[in-house]
Amino acid sequence: MTLLDDLSAVLGGAFAAAGLDAAYGRAARADRPDLAQFQCNGALAAAKAAKQNPRALAQSVIDKLDAADIFADVAIAGPGFINLALRDDWLAARLGEAGPWARPAPEKIVIDYGGPNVAKPLHVGHLRAAIIGESLKRIARAAGDTVIGDAHLGDWGLQMGQLISELELRQPDLPYFDAANKGPFPDAPPITLGDLEAMYPAASAACKEDEARAELAREATKALQDGRPGYRALWRHFVDLSVAAMKVDYADLGVDFDLWNGEADADPLIPEIAEDLRARGLLETSDGADIIRVARDSDKKEMPPIIFRNSRGAVGYHATDVATIVDRTRAIGPDRMLYVVDARQRLHFEQVFRAVDRAGYFDEDKLEHLWFGTMNGKDGKPFKTREGGTLKLRDFIDMVTEKARERLVENGLAEGYGEAETNDIAQKVGIAALKFADLSNPRTSDYIFDLDRFTSFEGKTGPYLLYARARIRSVLAKAAVAGAGEAGPIVIGVAEERDLALALAGFADAHRDAYEKRLPHILCDHAFGLAQVFSKFYAACRIADEADETARASRIALAELVAAQLDQVFDLLGLPAPERM
Ligand code: ARG
Repeated sequence: MTLLDDLSAVLGGAFAAAGLDAAYGRAARADRPDLAQFQCNGALAAAKAAKQNPRALAQSVIDKLDAADIFADVAIAGPGFINLALRDDWLAARLGEAGPWARPAPEKIVIDYGGPNVAKPLHVGHLRAAIIGESLKRIARAAGDTVIGDAHLGDWGLQMGQLISELELRQPDLPYFDAANKGPFPDAPPITLGDLEAMYPAASAACKEDEARAELAREATKALQDGRPGYRALWRHFVDLSVAAMKVDYADLGVDFDLWNGEADADPLIPEIAEDLRARGLLETSDGADIIRVARDSDKKEMPPIIFRNSRGAVGYHATDVATIVDRTRAIGPDRMLYVVDARQRLHFEQVFRAVDRAGYFDEDKLEHLWFGTMNGKDGKPFKTREGGTLKLRDFIDMVTEKARERLVENGLAEGYGEAETNDIAQKVGIAALKFADLSNPRTSDYIFDLDRFTSFEGKTGPYLLYARARIRSVLAKAAVAGAGEAGPIVIGVAEERDLALALAGFADAHRDAYEKRLPHILCDHAFGLAQVFSKFYAACRIADEADETARASRIALAELVAAQLDQVFDLLGLPAPERM
């Protein structure tokens, strides 16, 4: 149980004893921490429902409150708020268990948060998906869910046909293009990753300009999907080349998928799904294409049908998502599926979710599109490179690492550690800067990419938190060297110790809130708040050189708890942290 759950249970008991619904006893952190630690607003609502005076009702609840061991102060404020302060000994005793929240009924969840496309550079949308999805995965795992992260590669659409036809035009003599050749084909790819990445924009531009060229791409897509051996072999090379490079970039970003499945993995299920849908009258033919209608009478906006197969018989993005849901249901049997994908795909997911619900494949209430806003450049448009091109993850990581290195030098940090460690610290600071900036913005908001601000060691930034953590570690290490002794029982004496204890005790609530709302920024706020109260505590309280042995041991214990909790939060956010800086 979280701190707020415990307090709510006690308050709920008092409401019930006063003959009222226990649900009115919900406790919350005080809106005005200068006036109270916690508050309960339930008396106001209860009084409204019972047409009673709220202050009198609040008093009748307080009269029933039998919790002298928990509360040091209980008072009615304003129109009928109940303000609460905890007893220091009760608060201190709780800190030992200040771990993450444990979900009462854990689920098995698939989280789809990659979506990189073969041969296309990752764009900003993919970066945010990876950062936010990785954190949501960790938050859910810590709560007890079994979570399977899937990269869901974009490896099956028209872009594959564009690439195949492009290479066919450039190098028609390759064995892959002989329709009669059934293989085997060479093990080594005919081109490099660089060739592949250069070929994609050329192919895509050519198809846009020239209808006959676009037709070749569509034909190649269809032939690939129909299983033409040379095209399949070539496709495999393209996917392998791309995935090997993606794995390196994602690993540097601290993002790690359990499954590297792609759209293509669900393709074998398409014929049987189509047959099933057709037999039940759900798949209709319209203008030669196979569609599933998903509109409802209650719709306020237009809800076009999904195109399951186009008039040529090729499947696209809708169909692969439908088939992937069926595939995951069979292979994994999850209770729920989460999709961390750009806000621009809201219509797409709404259509897909409705279609699978209509078909009885998966309950749409258990499918969540956790969309997110855009990372914009200073011009307010989706972030681009200085040359106006799409962001490549590799270049991006290099850019933030470079900036982090400059910042470390400016701040006189990580000096004299040798080249390897300094490089490692710079990379970690850069990645933490980038990830924290992304995560600390509410998921559904857009934000502006500002490298200077994100890499600053001041303010609510990743580098500030990394530094705070390293500093606490160094305080503890120095205390150990100075023979300050071991951590002991926590005894709260001064306000700074109390504030620190209250912040520590809020972890499970922050975790739960972040989990339930699927908003990692709540944990960023928690970590930042904790680091700030630690600073105040450190400025006000002696630690290693405190003369009073009990206070010294208690402060060492508090500092250790803060260090350990920051580690836990960093882990939930997926932030790397150097041991020292
Ligand atoms: N590859 C897609 C894109 O780049 C994103 C895939 C997201 N996941 C999904 N199941 N549709 O737009």
